[in-house]
Order: sequence, then structure tokens, then C-alpha cells
Amino acid sequence: MNPKKNYPEEVYLNGKWLKHDQAFVSVFDRGFMFGDGIYEVTPFYNGIPFKLKEHLERLQYCLKEVQIEFDVAPLEKLMLEAVSRAGLSKSDAAVYIQISRGTAPRTHFYPENPTPTILLYSFPVNLENFKNRQWKVLVSKDKRWQRCDIKTTALMANIMANEEAVSLEFEENLLVRKGYFTEASHSSAFFVKYKTIYTHPEGPHILSGVTRKQIILLCQNLGIKVKEKAVHLDELVEVDEIFLTGTTTQVVKVASVHSREKELFRAKKNHITTLLQNEFIKLTRP
Ligand code: PDD
Repeated sequence: MNPKKNYPEEVYLNGKWLKHDQAFVSVFDRGFMFGDGIYEVTPFYNGIPFKLKEHLERLQYCLKEVQIEFDVAPLEKLMLEAVSRAGLSKSDAAVYIQISRGTAPRTHFYPENPTPTILLYSFPVNLENFKNRQWKVLVSKDKRWQRCDIKTTALMANIMANEEAVSLEFEENLLVRKGYFTEASHSSAFFVKYKTIYTHPEGPHILSGVTRKQIILLCQNLGIKVKEKAVHLDELVEVDEIFLTGTTTQVVKVASVHSREKELFRAKKNHITTLLQNEFIKLTRP
């Protein structure tokens, strides 16, 4: 079942706070024309940002990779303001930031000195019940490009995959490139095999997940072995647990993995996932 989503009351657009239905960008904005933009989603637990510095660092890295000139430092203040203006200072929320290259006559090359378009808003999210979720996941071909480390707004391959999953009543996808699991359509993927956790190495084929990094650190502190090594589809028979992580996903158990034709995996245990979920709660709600 698709949850109903609402527009935020107010958004920050290029220096102004506006009602959502009064905020407009040009039809020649390169975000609209090409998906020529970068985005970021940061969680707030009880009004307190979680790993804000890491989210802003990733945003700065992505902007640099695509040569959008913009200093993210002033965004921190705006993010806090967005949460407060939305009346979410005492609840769980997230802040969405999108920076496109700006408006210019249409060219495939980067236009000279465009002014980036900045959109930012806060929205409520339920960050409470992730431990109770058990997701059914569809295996899909990873049709994305070769720079998945860049958090671009051009998410056509991700949304095509996730639409297929949701229309078939799955909660997420596990994407496969050349036989190996990369990640999910909007979360990072971990596999537990013989008490060791496997996750695809960082690089051009996955997003460097902020939550993923926190989970790896947690494992190191707990003495759980982590290998940043991709898992092959054929290895699923040896896997005991799978979990997905992300800003709004948090740490979610995968109950089963399916192709369109048949079930490929069913969780045998949940010990390590449960342990990490409990540790993640301590981290996010100290
Ligand atoms: N999605 N991988 C992909 C492809 C993602 O889109 C995301 C996040 C993640 C998890 O990253 P992080 O832990 O930094 O949130 C991994 C965001 C939340 C989204 O698109 O809404």
C-alpha cells in the first residue's frame, strides 16, 4: 500500500520562504530539463539532526563532481530553520535539499556561470517503528549509470525499479549488476553470511550511504566482522540475514527476496540485524 504523501506547507526557494503552491522554477531550469541537479535527505530525531556534517559533506562532494559551484556551509542554518518553521522541532522529520545547476538556454554542455537553484524543505517522517518492519524485496536489474556515488535527482532507473516492486506489492528492490548485488533502489544493502557482514564496496556502483557508514562503524565497535565485498546472486543460499539501511529506511529486516517468478531467499535468523537495530536506536536517540 502506498502511503499518502502531502506537500510541505512552505519551502525555501532561492533565498525566500514560500507557500508550496507559490514556489516556481523556470521551464529552462536544468533540473527540470535534464535532471541536472543534486539532492540530499537528512534525518532529524526529535528535532535533532543526525550526521548533518556527513550529509552536507556528501552534498558538497557531489556538487564538486558535477561542477556545480555552490558552498553548502550556509545550508545548516536553513535546515534548522526549515524544521522549526514546519513545527517539527520536537518530532521526527527530514530535510530535503535540491540544488540544480540553474536556468540557462538548453545545451548539453555546462552553461557559463549559471546561478544554482536551491530548494529546501522539511517534512515529517515516522522514524519510530522500523524494528517492526519485515520487507519483501524484488530482485531487479541495476539499470543505473556508472556514477551511482553521485546523488543526482535524475533517478529514472531507480524509480522504474521501485515502481515495478511496489506495483507487485514488494517494499523495495535489490539491484543486481553483472550477477552481484549493488544496493537497493533507495537504500543500502547488507548480507550476513557465516556471522560476517557483506556489503558492496564504495565506488561508482553504489551511493556512499551515511547510514551504511554508521552501521559499519557500529559493527567495528561491536567486533562484528564486515567485508566490503559484493555478494553474488548464487551466494544467497548461504546468506542468513539481509538488511537495508538509509536515512528514512533506518535499519530494516528483509524477510524474503524474490524474482518475478519465485522466492530466492527467506530469512533464517535475525540476530545480527536485531542487535544492530538496537545499537542504531542508542545512536539516534541517545
Ligand atoms: N535515499 N542508496 C541509494 C540509491 C539511496 O537513494 C539512498 C538514500 C541510500 C541510503 O543512503 P543514506 O543512508 O545516506 O540515506 C542508498 C534517500 C533517502 C532518498 O532518495 O530519499
